Formats: sequence, structure tokens, C-alpha cells
Amino acid sequence: MNTKSALAAAAVLAFGVLSEPAVRAAHGADAPAATVDLTKWTPPDIATVKDDDLGKLIKYGYALTTETYKHLGPEAADPAMRYAGNNLACQSCHLNAATQPYSMPWTGVHAVFPLYRAREDAVSTIEERVNGCMQRSMNGKALPLDGTEMKAFVAYMKWLSTGIPVGARIEGAGTRPIKDPPRAADPGRGRQVYADTCATCHGADGQGVRRGEAGDREGYQFPPLWGPDSYNDGAGMYRALTAAAFVRHNMPLGTTYEAPALSDEDAYDVIAFVNSQPRPHKEGMDKDFPNRLRKPVDMPFPPFADGFPAEQHKYGPYDPIRARLKELSGRP
Ligand code: HEC
Ligand code: HEC
Repeated sequence: MNTKSALAAAAVLAFGVLSEPAVRAAHGADAPAATVDLTKWTPPDIATVKDDDLGKLIKYGYALTTETYKHLGPEAADPAMRYAGNNLACQSCHLNAATQPYSMPWTGVHAVFPLYRAREDAVSTIEERVNGCMQRSMNGKALPLDGTEMKAFVAYMKWLSTGIPVGARIEGAGTRPIKDPPRAADPGRGRQVYADTCATCHGADGQGVRRGEAGDREGYQFPPLWGPDSYNDGAGMYRALTAAAFVRHNMPLGTTYEAPALSDEDAYDVIAFVNSQPRPHKEGMDKDFPNRLRKPVDMPFPPFADGFPAEQHKYGPYDPIRARLKELSGRP
């Protein structure tokens, strides 16, 4: 029996309790569950997908992921398809067609939805999750739930999870947290880190480098990190700890969690600099995380249950906020 079918057999017995990606690994202990370590996992090869109806849908999902700007961006040939508000690709953040460990990979994601999410304080579906990134990371509009594009994303995600048992604990899901320094992040110091380590690719002005000309539907070689063509302030990448975790373990491009180029402090400060630059605004952020006690400490929009100002939620230090929230929710 090969590894994949062994895992599939284990799935019959496996039943894990899963929650948000970062804590997925921690939760499965309640019940015996197979563990899949994405750092040792070979994702399926898109070149092997057949040309039947399902295969075509999977390949379209792959194209939507790697070349989102071409199909759904503001320059898409059909104006009715311009659902995304920027020229990023899903792959700009979900690296390597969303297979890169600790870069919010979609491998295994299909198997954990529907899933409780604190942002809505409700159970959400994988389609809602796609639309969360469409409206925030892509600064655009929700895709119709019954449209071909949504079906293609979901088919691609399901195919990426081939061989991963339902309920498996996924190592490498989400991002790998940094240990945040016990001080507020320093955007001034971050500006220097940016100039030294990021500007060569993303540009001194943060506007990235296009593959060709504006309007050519080819997107970016190096995506912008702020300004009108970037993610909006409702996006996960606008949250200090999420973004620092992503940057530390994935940037400069080619970096992996095994050999980070930046220290925790550099990642913390450089993201404070990036996220203090102008970018599109998302309305209605006060409605996120209706259960305020479950609002992540780095969500920088009021209202807050903890009494700390928005500034501290944006830049830290976070330990005092964590301590207060713990007190309020009566957790030991
Ligand atoms: C600017 C960066 C960025 C872009 C671009 C982006 N995402 Fe995301 N995405 C994130 C981050 C960060 C998270 C995890 C944190 C969160 O919950 O917001 C995430 C989470 C997800 C998840 C849930 C993954 C999990 O482990 O539960 C899905 C599904 C997803 N994104 C789909 C998409 C799709 C589809 C696109 C393109 C249409 C896209 N994303 C574009 C940053 C991005
Ligand atoms: C060697 C070039 C290079 C360097 C240096 C680099 N990046 Fe990137 N970065 C990229 C590329 C390319 C992508 C998009 C990946 C893709 O499209 O496959 C990206 C994506 C990103 C993203 C998510 C997409 C977006 O537009 O928001 C963030 C955030 C980011 N980089 C931050 C940084 C920071 C901060 C630094 C410095 C510490 C840095 N990068 C250094 C090449 C680079």
C-alpha cells in the first residue's frame, strides 16, 4: 500500500476536531486523527489532470488561482467578469498555486469546511472563504455561488486535497506564527528593513513591477504591497501578526520556514511599515468578529472588548491585550 492509500485507509478511523488553520494542529488531540505534514507532502501534478469535464474545471480553477488578474481582474476582457478590484493573483499570497506550506496552502482545506469562524461567529463554507478573499485580499466583489468560477475554485481545492483524509491534522496549514516582541512595532525601523530587503523586488515605492504594460492583463512579476492595486485594510494581510508570520517564513521569495531570512523583529517592523502606507479601505469592519472576545488581537478596527486602543491592536505590544482577553473570558 502506498502512502496515499494508507492515509485514505486511516481516514476511515480518523476524526479530528478542526478549527482555524493556525490552531488546526493543536486541536486534533481530542480524537485519533491522521496527521499530514505538508512539508513532506508532494502535491498532485496539474499536468496529469485529464481533459474530461471535471478535469477542465480543475484546470480552470488552477488558472484562476495563478492568473486571477487575467480572468477576474479589473483588466479582464469581459467587463462582467471583473470581480477582483486589483491585479493580484490568489497565488501572490497563496504561493506555488496554493501548495506552499505555511503560506496559507489550500491542500487539505477542502476537507475541513464547513468550519466555525470567529470572523462571522458562525459556521462558514469554503465558498464564503473564497469570497472573503475576493472582497478583501482582491479588493473586489463576491463571486456568484453557483457560477463556473466558484465551482472551479472549489474543484481545484478538492483536487489539491487528493489523498488527504477528512479530519486529518494538517502540519503546514495557515501560517507559522512569529514570536512577537514585547514592544510596539516600529514602522521607522521597518522602513529600513523594507529598503534593505524588499524594495529590490516590490519597488522603493511599494508599487511592484508589472510583467508588461498596464492594461495587458498580465499582472505583476512582483506584486504591489500598498497603494490602489493592493489588498484592502479588511484583508488578513493587513493584520500585523498574520502578515509578519507570512513574510518571515516566505519572503524574500524563495525563503521557506526552514531558513527564514528575517528575524521575528524585522518581520514585525517591516509589516508595520507596509501596513502604515495607503491602501484601499473596506467598509463595515466594525461588523467583523461579532463575538469580541474572539476577535484576534491584531484586528485593528473597533469595537474591542478589551479597552485597548486601535493603535495597539495595529502595532502591539500584544501580550497585555492577550492577558486582558484571557481575564475577560475567564479562561485559566
Ligand atoms: C493579499 C494576500 C492574499 C490574496 C491575494 C489571496 N488571499 Fe486567500 N488568504 C490570505 C490570508 C492571509 C489567509 C489566512 C488568514 C485569513 O483568515 O484571513 C487566506 C485564507 C484563504 C482561504 C482559507 C485557507 C485556510 O487555510 O482556511 C481560502 C480558501 C482563500 N484564502 C482563498 C483565496 C482565493 C480563492 C484567492 C484569490 C481569488 C485568495 N485567497 C487571494 C491572503 C490572500
Ligand atoms: C526576490 C524578490 C522578492 C523580494 C526580495 C521580496 N518579495 Fe515579496 N513577493 C515576491 C513575489 C514574486 C511575490 C508574489 C508571489 C507569486 O506571485 O508567485 C511576493 C509576494 C509578497 C506578498 C503578498 C502579495 C502582496 O502583493 O501583498 C507580501 C506581503 C510580500 N511579498 C512582502 C514582502 C516583504 C515585506 C519583503 C521584504 C522583507 C519581500 N516581500 C521581499 C518577491 C519578492
